[in-house]
Amino acid sequence: MRRPIMAANWKMNCTVSQARELVSALKGLVSEVSGVDIVLAPPFTSLPEVAKLIADTDISLAAQNMHWEESGAYTGEISPVMLKDIGCTYIIIGHSERRAYFGETDDTVNKKLKAALHYGLNPIVCVGESLAQREAGETTQVVGAQLQAGLAGLTADEVNRVVLAYEPVWAIGTGKTATPEQANEVHGFMRQQLSAAFNEATAQAVRIQYGGSVKPDNVAELMAQSHIDGALVGGAGLKADSFAGIVKFEG
Ligand code: 13P
Repeated sequence: MRRPIMAANWKMNCTVSQARELVSALKGLVSEVSGVDIVLAPPFTSLPEVAKLIADTDISLAAQNMHWEESGAYTGEISPVMLKDIGCTYIIIGHSERRAYFGETDDTVNKKLKAALHYGLNPIVCVGESLAQREAGETTQVVGAQLQAGLAGLTADEVNRVVLAYEPVWAIGTGKTATPEQANEVHGFMRQQLSAAFNEATAQAVRIQYGGSVKPDNVAELMAQSHIDGALVGGAGLKADSFAGIVKFEG
C-alpha cells in the first residue's frame, strides 16, 4: 500500500507575510490529518519562515528547484546542501515550467536527481506531455523518454526514494484536468516502464502524483484510481481551505 502524498507547489507566489498567513491557516485545518504525507513548496524566500512554522507539525518542506553542485561560482543558484540546512526534505525537479522557460532538460533533471539522492533530499520528479504531443498520439513516447533519461544511472534502491509527478502540460493552470482514467493510464504506463528498467517491486513501490488543475472537488475521483498516489497542486495550493480539502481527499 503506497502512502498518499499531497504537495503544494506555490510557484512564484506569496511574500513572506502571505506565506505566514497561508501556513498558519493551513496548520489549523490539517492538524487532525494522518496517513497522508503533506509537502509545501514555497519560493526560496519563504522557506526559512515556513520551516519555522511547520516545525511542530508533520508537514514537510520542499524547494521548487536547485543546482546539482554543492557550492561554487553559480550566480543566482541554490545548492542541495543549502536547502537541507534550512529544513527542506523534498525537492521538486524538472517541473514543466522550468523545462519550458528556464532550459531544464532531461540531462539537468538527471544531474539534479542524483544530487538530491546524494545529499539526502527526497526528489519529486515531474514529467508530462504538451497538448500538441498528446494530440499527435505521442504521450507515452514523450513520458517514457523523460523517465528513461531522467532516471538514467539510478539503482532500483535509489528509485524507491523517488516520487514521480505526472503533469500533462495542457492541464496545468488551465482548469482542464485529465480525466481520472486518462491520468491513470499514463501512471500505469509509467509503472510498466519502471518495472522494465528496474524491477516490479520498485514499480509497485514508487509513488506517482498527478498534477494539473487538481481541486478539492476532483481529487477524490483521481485518488480512487489504482495508480494515482497523490497530487502536485498549483493554484489550489495557494488557499488554505482548498489545499486542506485536497489533503483530506477521502472526506
Ligand atoms: P495547477 O494546479 O495550477 O494546474 O498547477 C499544477 C502544477 O503545475 C503543480 O506543479
